Amino acid sequence: MMTRSRLAFAIAAILGLAGAGLAYAHGDGDPSAAIDLVVNSPEGEVGEDEGLAAWENIYAVVSHPRCSNCHVDDSNTPMWSGPSYGEARPHGMNINAGASRIGAESLPCGTCHIQSTAPNDHPHAAPHAGLTWMLAPVEFAWFGKDSADVCRQIRDPERNGGRDGAGLVEHIVHDAQIKAFITWGFNPGGGREPAPGTMQAHLDDMVMWTAAGMPCPGE
Ligand code: HEC
Ligand code: HEC
Repeated sequence: MMTRSRLAFAIAAILGLAGAGLAYAHGDGDPSAAIDLVVNSPEGEVGEDEGLAAWENIYAVVSHPRCSNCHVDDSNTPMWSGPSYGEARPHGMNINAGASRIGAESLPCGTCHIQSTAPNDHPHAAPHAGLTWMLAPVEFAWFGKDSADVCRQIRDPERNGGRDGAGLVEHIVHDAQIKAFITWGFNPGGGREPAPGTMQAHLDDMVMWTAAGMPCPGE
């Protein structure tokens, strides 16, 4: 794991990037309405209690159906769950993403889930985002997992796509720029329940948790 000073340096580097003011269009009907997403540096040292509180907020987001429906295990089956779907169940129409996680073995996700940054206006239409629709890599499986399990996975570079704390922060900033899946999760449209809070609050929590050294519950 990164030392605190290296992490602070890396976050400062991202701050330089965010200083210019990052804005992304908020796709709830008015594509011109923009939200500023800014990497706010924490004031002073961040203690473990603050870090754990930030983690609880992060877990509320990543365990929400808008996120976990794609972050599933090696059954490679996307989930339909959350209020607009009723009882949790596998994706209708026998969809399976295969080991490719993108449906290359059978029916590619993109057949129905187009790549587009336009708002998702239509209930029950296949949702879309600014990236090719696909399941998250199998190591990033969250569906049905508890807070401590998910926490240890997200901070482990061997299981999170090689990211350190700064990389996790940067991932959210980048997602906002290209309106990818996290951006969609906070504004899914079509009558779907969004992930809790705002994308800015999620970014703030990620900065706090990583600055605290990524503490996990039960340690
Ligand atoms: C359409 C499916 C899909 C949805 C919905 C989705 N993700 Fe992901 N997620 C992915 C894919 C694919 C990757 C791998 C891309 C990468 O690592 O850059 C990924 C990677 C990640 C990572 C990288 C590190 C790790 O440990 O997993 C994080 C963090 C993440 N997603 C957070 C979220 C959050 C938060 C939400 C909901 C607000 C969400 N995702 C919703 C598909 C999805
Ligand atoms: C035959 C068309 C079709 C294909 C192919 C397809 N989907 Fe879907 N998908 C849909 C539709 C339609 C919905 C929305 C259902 C609803 O809202 O009632 C949906 C919803 C989803 C959701 C739920 C999103 C949420 O609201 O939380 C996920 C996750 C998902 N699809 C993943 C995938 C993945 C991954 C693939 C490729 C392996 C894929 N889908 C292939 C039609 C398709």
